[in-house]
Amino acid sequence: MQRAIESKSERPLGQAVSRAIEDGLIGGRKELFITSKLFPTDAYPDGVLPAIRETLGALEMEYVDLYLIHFPARLKGEKRFVFNGDDVIPLDMKGTWEAMEECNRLGLAKAIGVSNFSCKKLEQLLVHAKILPAVNQVEMHPLWKQTQLREFCSEKGIHISAYSPLGGVGVIWGTPAVLANQEIKSIAESKGKSAAQVCLRWAFQNGVSFLPKSFNKERLKENSEIFDWELSGEDMKRLNLLPQKRVALAEAYVSPNGVFKSCDELWDGEL
Ligand code: A2P
Repeated sequence: MQRAIESKSERPLGQAVSRAIEDGLIGGRKELFITSKLFPTDAYPDGVLPAIRETLGALEMEYVDLYLIHFPARLKGEKRFVFNGDDVIPLDMKGTWEAMEECNRLGLAKAIGVSNFSCKKLEQLLVHAKILPAVNQVEMHPLWKQTQLREFCSEKGIHISAYSPLGGVGVIWGTPAVLANQEIKSIAESKGKSAAQVCLRWAFQNGVSFLPKSFNKERLKENSEIFDWELSGEDMKRLNLLPQKRVALAEAYVSPNGVFKSCDELWDGEL
């Protein structure tokens, strides 16, 4: 069956990796860590294996290093990016996770995990999990530190990966407020670094992995230059005192008559 749409990044990424290997830029697939996610329209027990196989087909790879449940909800209908809260149906947490575990057992995903899960939703998942989620990928930057979730995940042995570590400026859910924050800018100036570098170094010193996105060659380089200097205890303290606010509310999943009646319910009070 022809599917409605496919990821715009998987096929080009696979082609770029093949070329980089052919050209000797990298030694081989093993040098890379590739993550993909189960889209919410495929987030049901029988949807998982076909979805990861389609991803692997597009990537022209035999496995991904990490495969994540994209969101703690399922969406009705064909794969698409525009939807609303009435399209949301509850996630079969047990059955979907069992299928994720099967991906791991079959060697299609070296590790499995989740994304956008609150403490409460992780607790619901852990009741059924034979394989612990390796990662919870969530919004995290100095204006949304995820203190409670980080403590919970650390106790359970689940690694946190930060998406939108720069606040997701320029993306639909994002905000320029992080890179424009005066305190972050002032710390950056005092170090001769950029605000983006301060945010990434802050994430690094907090022991999480982080996923800064850029289509710009200079900014890609800038974002990688954060490992040979550090933020002092005082800098970290100043950053950790910034007022907190979740930016990526995912309101599209919310509807007065739907599965999640409010953002508060969706995020289980972690707002
Ligand atoms: P661009 O692709 O033009 O570099 P996040 O990683 O938090 O989701 O943020 C991604 C956004 O941040 C993209 O719009 C990206 O734009 C921008 N960005 C990435 N790196 C930097 C940087 N070092 N300084 C300023 N903006 C950046």
